[in-house]
Amino acid sequence: MIKLDLSHSLDKEVFKDYQSKVTIINQMINEKTGLGNDFLGWADWPINYDKEEVERMLKGAKYIRDNYDILVVCGIGGSYLGARCALEALKGLYPDDKLQIIFMGQTFSPNYVAQVLNYLKGKRFAINVISKSGTTTETSISFRLLKDLLEKQVGKEEARKAIYATTDKEKGALKTLATKEGYETFTLPSNIGGRFSVLTAVGLFPLACANIDIKAMLEGAKEARDLYMNDHLDTNICYQYAITRDYMYRHGKSSEMFVTYEPSMSQLSEWLKQLFGESEGKERKALLPTSVTFSTDLHSLGQFIQDGTHVLFETIINVVKPNQDIVIPHDNEDLDGLNYLEGKGLAFVNQKAFEGTLKAHVEDGGVPCNIIYIDEMNEKNLGHLFYFFMRACAMSAYLLGINPFNQPGVEIYKRNMFHLLGKKGY
Ligand code: PA5
Repeated sequence: MIKLDLSHSLDKEVFKDYQSKVTIINQMINEKTGLGNDFLGWADWPINYDKEEVERMLKGAKYIRDNYDILVVCGIGGSYLGARCALEALKGLYPDDKLQIIFMGQTFSPNYVAQVLNYLKGKRFAINVISKSGTTTETSISFRLLKDLLEKQVGKEEARKAIYATTDKEKGALKTLATKEGYETFTLPSNIGGRFSVLTAVGLFPLACANIDIKAMLEGAKEARDLYMNDHLDTNICYQYAITRDYMYRHGKSSEMFVTYEPSMSQLSEWLKQLFGESEGKERKALLPTSVTFSTDLHSLGQFIQDGTHVLFETIINVVKPNQDIVIPHDNEDLDGLNYLEGKGLAFVNQKAFEGTLKAHVEDGGVPCNIIYIDEMNEKNLGHLFYFFMRACAMSAYLLGINPFNQPGVEIYKRNMFHLLGKKGY
């Protein structure tokens, strides 16, 4: 269901030079002995996940769908991007569902926050607040405001039933608050970091609320785990992809550009940028992860990719069969000159745009392109794809000699901001 085409990027002969390193690193991942090994819980999660918690999530999701019109998902970074990305990839940008999902907690923007709060006034909404640490300022401020609005609208007792917290099992301010208030709580295991948490309750509970088949996602992830936990470089496409990243980095490329041909997958690129950027961007090393959505961005960054400096390679995520197609109709006058396409589907046009662009970028532009083919976008394939990228990220970071699971650089802006805000101790 997922294929990797490297024929436009590198010669597979290079795998031989990587075999011994990959074998060692794969063992480190499987046996959880490498740098940051306390955070390798995601690697076996598809077989170790808490089945009882999944049933509780499904029960909670049904309650939310039966009793509310809106679910506000409140979180940032790894506590936000996975759910948003999966929701859009699977349901599209204008989903036709009785439960609307809105995101908050990912910004300090007064405009955004005021607009969401205003939109929620007088409406029946529930909240899923998500924070592993329980102390993230964007999320905490938004949650305080949301809770306040909800309690004013329905009273404290009813608000309690409408709030679901996803956080650490034992520690943190959100855990303390949730226990004190008696909120239904889901867990982010202590050995899984935010950007590796999409297949835990962090991603799965909001997705279950959107009527997405979360068990199929976990099944897809399990299938991926079974396929990619070995060091066979002739068949393991996850590690083949990780090697191309490392090879490109060591051969003059400074950026990987994720490319999709579906606007509903632009958030997948955001998730990927966080996964690779926050995992690898340390010690003044690593590729800069960037992204475009074609054909839209062929009318903006397309020019740079084609003729600009040779800093990047592309990783194209191509969904072979779209879930829907639209046929171009006949027009008697043909003033727009489009009758040569009548009866053809947009899927056909999009495919030709992909083929034409690939040829232009590879042959004329000299830009190496990896292609990941997915036969169709569904829960199982997306679960598989999430696992594929998380495992590839761990391999790629270890090849660079980086601990993929910390984010020391993120603390520096926080320190300055807290100082400027007058927080005690800063
Ligand atoms: O990947 C990460 O660890 C981060 O992006 C976190 O998910 C993000 O900072 C939010 O943290 P928390 O869930 O503690 O609010």
